[in-house]
Amino acid sequence: MSDTVRENGVIVAIDGPSGAGKSSLTKLLARRLGYIHIDTGAMFRAVALMAKRAGIAADDDAGLAGLCRTLEISFVRDGEACRVLANGEDVSREIRTEEIGLLTSAVSARKPVRAALLTMQRAMGAKGGVILEGRDIGTVVFPDAEVKFFLSASAEERGRRRYLELAARGDSATLEETIAKVIQRDRQDEGREHAPLKQAADALPIDSTSLSIDEVLAVMESAVRERIAKGEKG
Ligand code: DC
Repeated sequence: MSDTVRENGVIVAIDGPSGAGKSSLTKLLARRLGYIHIDTGAMFRAVALMAKRAGIAADDDAGLAGLCRTLEISFVRDGEACRVLANGEDVSREIRTEEIGLLTSAVSARKPVRAALLTMQRAMGAKGGVILEGRDIGTVVFPDAEVKFFLSASAEERGRRRYLELAARGDSATLEETIAKVIQRDRQDEGREHAPLKQAADALPIDSTSLSIDEVLAVMESAVRERIAKGEKG
């Protein structure tokens, strides 16, 4: 990890499988630090949604490359929430379905999609003062990030959390189905050729299976503040 602090602060990378609590924790940590939150999963989800609408298959690399060349993805703050725009259209809700989640896992394994989003993500984060959450932030996007976390939890616990979220939205999925989907997604994300889900050697691993959000947040916040203080002294 680098010893300098960038123009707007450090870069914090949070990687881990789906359902480990990355989104909630990134949001809370960004608020505490006054940092920008970049949800890279939402960017891949936007690509998957737009590919589906355009009738581009998940393994059509030429079609996906063409789509990414003209696709503009941005984030806008809306009070406490953060909205995802694809070519100016608010797709925040539409990208959160289970169907788009599974399609995203397939589309995000394709090389042209990863290459296009890598460029966008590096441009968004280069000045620091950002927290990026995803699967390959500490390994591929910003291997020189000043602080890296790898957040995990058991598949059963992640499935249970996802099931509760879905039930609150009125979705009728069962707990068993939800856990099975979590395991399927892990396999796709870990087994792919390009930028697979993997813990960076210098990441701080946190297993949130039996920890509260506040407990995990406290560990993360103190690690980041320690690194910022070290950077300011040096
Ligand atoms: O974090 P999420 O569930 O919104 O991510 C959706 C999918 O996108 C997930 O299956 C893995 C993929 N993804 C990725 O490949 N690389 C990232 N940096 C973020 C997400």
